[in-house]
Amino acid sequence: MDELEAILRSAPQDVDATQSLAELDELETRLTGRKSTLAELRRGLGKLDEKERPAVGARLNTAAGELGSLIAARRLILERQAENELLADDMVDITLPGVGHRTGTHHLITQTIDELVDIFVALGYQVASGPEIETSWHNFDALNTPWWHPSRLESDTMYVDYGDSDDELPLRTHTSPVQARVMVEQEPPVYVVVPGRCYRTDTFDATHSPVFHQMEGLAVAEGITFGDLKGTLLHFAREYFGKDQTIELIPHFFPFTEPSAELHVSCFSCNGSGCRVCGNSGWLELLGCGMVDPNVFDAVGYDSSAVTGFAFGGGIERIAQARHGVVDIRDFFDNDLRVNRQFV
Ligand code: PHE
Repeated sequence: MDELEAILRSAPQDVDATQSLAELDELETRLTGRKSTLAELRRGLGKLDEKERPAVGARLNTAAGELGSLIAARRLILERQAENELLADDMVDITLPGVGHRTGTHHLITQTIDELVDIFVALGYQVASGPEIETSWHNFDALNTPWWHPSRLESDTMYVDYGDSDDELPLRTHTSPVQARVMVEQEPPVYVVVPGRCYRTDTFDATHSPVFHQMEGLAVAEGITFGDLKGTLLHFAREYFGKDQTIELIPHFFPFTEPSAELHVSCFSCNGSGCRVCGNSGWLELLGCGMVDPNVFDAVGYDSSAVTGFAFGGGIERIAQARHGVVDIRDFFDNDLRVNRQFV
């Protein structure tokens, strides 16, 4: 009984010291469970003298009651505390500003490609593509560019070192090899545009990038003339830059077209009078073009006496720069969001 009184004296502090429901359960088992002093004393009641038994029994009952109410009171507090913690963890402050997601957009190069492709798809052209690691045959030979042509040197063209060292595998220097790929695969008539990435041994500066994009166009059928080329390019210039644009075709040389020309579009910014956008010339130099050289038809297995065609190809960066006033080509590749966000 002395032991029990000692337990009862320290019980209030012991109960209050529990910090969790688990701790309280453990203490409850120790104070009132089957192995507790209280339970042991109860089991001993029967051995007591009949005179002593009622008083001891009554004391054991009140002791059990005291312990029970101490524990119950503490349990209430701990339960409320646990619930408050749960609520605090789950709390959502609906007055805080939300964390929104920005909607992404396409890069200006992608936007430009989409817009250019749309203009030609509306004319009935299909979109073709080819590999960026090319064979020398597609990139040069089929395009009437002989082995000694300076553009084939490593000073202009990057080569992939792979497989048999006799296989020259250039990173394509233009989208023109896809002309050869399409014609080898498909009989005329052919109307395709080919947007894609190209590579040249250029130092990255304000006007050059070793990686850049081009879009190629190829039309082959019976009776296609230079007039068709000119009309198509005029349509393109007016769709892309504005309905009042004029164009001029300046004689030029490309191995795979004959005759060849460079397309100039009247500057949309000054209407030809000369300004910063066009470098005071009044014209924007946009792309190379010409009538497909018969040697190209022969190389891909077309009958060069039966079909004629035109081709054109130009840098996407240059076209986008002209229209959007992007002065430095590196702005397309630096991924500076302050630049990119201007073209959403
Ligand atoms: N491939 C040429 C270049 O990269 C452009 C071009 C394409 C010229 C088609 C004529 C015909 O400069």
